Amino acid sequence: MEKDMIVNPYEVKGDIDYDKLIKEFGVEKINNKLLERIKKHTKELHFMLRRGVFFANRDMNWLLDEYEKGNKFFLYTGRGPSGPIHLGHLGTWTFVKWLQDKFGVELWFQFTDDEKFLFKDKSFEEIQKWTDDNMLDVIALGFDPKKTHFIVDTRNANLLYPEAIKFAKKITFSTVKSAFGMTNENNIGQIFYTSMQAVPAIIPSILKKKNIPCLIPLAIDQDPHFRVARDVYPKLGYYKPAIIHGMFLPPLSGISGKMDSSGNENSASILTTDTSEEVKRKINKYAFSGGQPTIEEHRKLGGNPDIDVCFQYLRMFFEEDDAKLKKIHDDYKSGKLLTGELKQYTINKINEFLKNHQKKREEAKKQLDKFIYK
Ligand code: TRP
Repeated sequence: MEKDMIVNPYEVKGDIDYDKLIKEFGVEKINNKLLERIKKHTKELHFMLRRGVFFANRDMNWLLDEYEKGNKFFLYTGRGPSGPIHLGHLGTWTFVKWLQDKFGVELWFQFTDDEKFLFKDKSFEEIQKWTDDNMLDVIALGFDPKKTHFIVDTRNANLLYPEAIKFAKKITFSTVKSAFGMTNENNIGQIFYTSMQAVPAIIPSILKKKNIPCLIPLAIDQDPHFRVARDVYPKLGYYKPAIIHGMFLPPLSGISGKMDSSGNENSASILTTDTSEEVKRKINKYAFSGGQPTIEEHRKLGGNPDIDVCFQYLRMFFEEDDAKLKKIHDDYKSGKLLTGELKQYTINKINEFLKNHQKKREEAKKQLDKFIYK
């Protein structure tokens, strides 16, 4: 059953071994000392940090050194707008919002319409439509409009392009080939793209004419872009950005790979626009279960929460309360809690969240202007 693991910005496949990724990517695991250091400033730890959903980093200690000297950082993350937003994206951004609140910092959010046009078989017009659509989901999470700036690669090209070429000049095709598995058949826009993703990490430094530290929260598949670009920042006179890496919310079908909404079949993901009936249907029909085939066996042998997709959704996103999560874990494992019951609990949690999100998403249509960088 073991499938070969592939993790890069353009493909995530197989059983994900996060410890192996830490080694392969050359990043550092988040240890207790770093958690304590973060907690000194945030007073509490977000459950995604407590539970290791955000599990690795680059240069977070440096970032906190600077912060403690009074050199505040800003946050940078982004979205490739190729389709609808699903729960996996929202998990990462919920954590970003927490960081913005706790540290009181700016967020620069990049929409890479160029990237998705270059990499997907979709028209420029369709990607524009998803760009506008996806912005609503980001706004709905409650980011501070005074401290949050949306940039769109092709719409803010005058800001981004003059900097992107400076990165491009210092990155060779052979580096990009080995970092992303590209070949001579890749189109030339794809080869160039990493330099666009590198730029927002220095935009505030350019605008304020002084170096400002940057923290990039991302799902670990995006790390290779920065692994390549981080060598270039100092050459251009900037700090290397710090990074904090998150895990993937698994697809409904099982704990390998990541949730993905770009396929034709929607069975892998729950979208932010799904109705409560759709959520119920998808979870009941598709969510991979760690339970036993019959109730009798389940009562006797118990279930396996580690491979149960609903339990993982609760752990990684929807059940903030550690005591409740532990009880669900223990009851499922002992056989006291049945798969149907665990699914119903998860459905309720997701629907509660989505009801609020969908309301905020509607309201966001009137707020767009406050977020778009001009
Ligand atoms: N390439 C990312 C995607 O496909 C979007 C993105 C742009 C991003 N800049 C980023 C993601 C910075 C994380 C951090 O979704």
